[in-house]
Amino acid sequence: MHLIDKIKAKAKLNLQTVVLPESYDERMLYAAEKIVEQGLAKVVLLGNPDKVKESATAKGVKLDGVEIVDPNTSAKLASYVDGLVEIRKKKGLTPEDARKLLTAEDNLYYAGMMVRMGDAGGCVAGATSTTGNVLRASIQTIGTAAGIKTVSSFFIMITKDAKFGEDGVVFFADCAVNPNPDSQALAEIAVATAGNCKAFLDVEAKVAMLSFSTKGSATHPDVDKVTKAVEIAKQLAPDLLIDGELQADAALIPSIGEKKAPGSAVAGKANVVIFPDLDSGNIGYKLTERIGGAVAFGPILQGLAKPVNDLSRGCSVDDIVNVVAFTAVQAQ
Ligand SMILES: CC(C)(COP(=O)(O)OP(=O)(O)OC[C@H]1O[C@@H](n2cnc3c(N)ncnc32)[C@H](O)[C@@H]1OP(=O)(O)O)[C@@H](O)C(=O)NCCC(=O)NCCS
Repeated sequence: MHLIDKIKAKAKLNLQTVVLPESYDERMLYAAEKIVEQGLAKVVLLGNPDKVKESATAKGVKLDGVEIVDPNTSAKLASYVDGLVEIRKKKGLTPEDARKLLTAEDNLYYAGMMVRMGDAGGCVAGATSTTGNVLRASIQTIGTAAGIKTVSSFFIMITKDAKFGEDGVVFFADCAVNPNPDSQALAEIAVATAGNCKAFLDVEAKVAMLSFSTKGSATHPDVDKVTKAVEIAKQLAPDLLIDGELQADAALIPSIGEKKAPGSAVAGKANVVIFPDLDSGNIGYKLTERIGGAVAFGPILQGLAKPVNDLSRGCSVDDIVNVVAFTAVQAQ
C-alpha cells in the first residue's frame, strides 16, 4: 500500500479533530469537504460562520459535519485569553494583547490554544500564513514537548530507487525550521526524526549525521559541531543507531559506506539523514525532489507538545487533505 494510503487508513481508525484556521482560503473549504467525506478527521473551521457558509454555497461545497467556530464570539475566548496570559506571563503579555492575538484575522493563536486546551487534536495552517507565523503562534501557544527545546521538521522523501533507505524511503531533517542549529539542537532533531521514522514506517531508524567530511577526513569547526551532536544524541537516546560525521554518499550507498566508514551500523544503510543546517537541508531536499525525481512529503513539524503542520502557500486541496491525515495520525 502507498504510504499516504497507509496514513489515511490509520487516521480513520481513531478519528481526531483537526482545526483549520484559514477558512477564508477556498482550498480549505474544498479540503474540509473531502476530509469529512473520506472519514479522515473531524474538522473545525475558524471564521465567521455566515461568511464561511456563503462562500461554501457559492462554490458548491458541502460543509455537512464540519464545525465552524468564530473566535470573536466563541464562549471559549475568555478562558483562552486567561490561558495565553498565563503561558506568556514572563513576557508580560496583557489580557488586551492576548485578546488581540486570539482574534487576529489569521486565527493562528486561537487555533493553537484550541490544540493546547484539547479542543482540537491538531492544527493545519500555512496556505496563506508564512511558515514563520505558523511556527511562532504554535511555539507560543502549544510549546515544546517534555524534554525537547527545539521544534524542527522532517520530510519523507520517496525516491525512485528502492536501494535507498527503507525501500526507497528516506527521512530528511531539518529542511524547514532551524536556520543554524547548534550541536544540542542537531541532536534533538536526530532523536525526534528517528522517533517519527519508527512511528510512521514501523522500522528501526538508522540515523546519519551529514557533513562534508566522513570520519575525520576533514577538520573544521562545522565538522566538530556534527560529531558533538552525535555524542549528545547518544546520551539522549542510548539505543539509537546513529553515526557521523558522514558524507551523503557514505550514508546512503553501501559500498561507499563500507569504504569510508568501515564497521558502521549506519553508513550505507541510513533511512534518516540529518543535515547540519537549513541551507544544506532545504537545498538538499529540493535537489532530491527536482533533479532526483523523488516525491517530497512534508515538512512535518516535530518537537511541539501537540501536532501542528505547516502547508506550502502553493499547496493543492489534496496536499491539505494529506497533511490533515498525517496530523490526525500524530494526534492519536
Ligand atoms: C522558528 C522561527 C519562526 C523563529 O523565529 P524568530 O524570529 O527567530 O523568533 P524569535 O527568536 O523571536 O523566537 C520566538 C520564540 O520562539 C522560540 N523559538 C524559536 N525557534 C525555535 C525552535 N526551533 N524551537 C523552539 N522554540 C523556538 C524562541 O525561543 C522564542 O521564544 P519566546 O518568545 O518564548 O522567547 C524562525 O526560525 C523561522 O521563521 N523559521 C522558518 C524558516 C523558514 O522560513 N523556513 C521556510 C523554508 S520551507
